[in-house]
Amino acid sequence: MPKKKKILFVCLGNICRSPLAEGLMKQKISEQQLEDIFEVDSCGTGNWHIGDLPDPRTRKNAELNGLILTSRCRQIVPADLEDFDHIIAMDQSNVHNILKLSGAKQHQHKIELLRAYDEQATTDEVPDPYHGGPDDFQEVFDIVNKCTELWLKKNAR
Ligand code: 4NP
Repeated sequence: MPKKKKILFVCLGNICRSPLAEGLMKQKISEQQLEDIFEVDSCGTGNWHIGDLPDPRTRKNAELNGLILTSRCRQIVPADLEDFDHIIAMDQSNVHNILKLSGAKQHQHKIELLRAYDEQATTDEVPDPYHGGPDDFQEVFDIVNKCTELWLKKNAR
């Protein structure tokens, strides 16, 4: 069996956007029976929420959309850049922070923006809902849902 492709979603806090991307991607991988091909994780560039479940607002919104999120926050480490094949960031500041990690430059080709997969979007960033309301969390859900689907379509062959 060929080695699995390892996907790492990255945001700032690892409690809103990237755990949602992890949960949605795992759901799609399971629905499309691609478990032998992909492995998925998420992390944050910041360290404020290490060990925490996703933000209660992210979990509530995900549950309203039929998805239970159970991941625990962890911070990105330089070894992740070696270990993962695809490092998928939510916004440009995440990319900037990832590139500050030791040895990151040699893995730059693995780093991409999730929303760049949506050709209809007017920005390649997933907005940070942390200071927003319920509508912002639903907007992020819709963006991440669409873009994880597009990512999988493009990379699952
Ligand atoms: P995330 O959102 O990067 O999508 O997880 C945030 C979560 C926490 C903070 C900022 C953004 N914070 O400042 O604690």
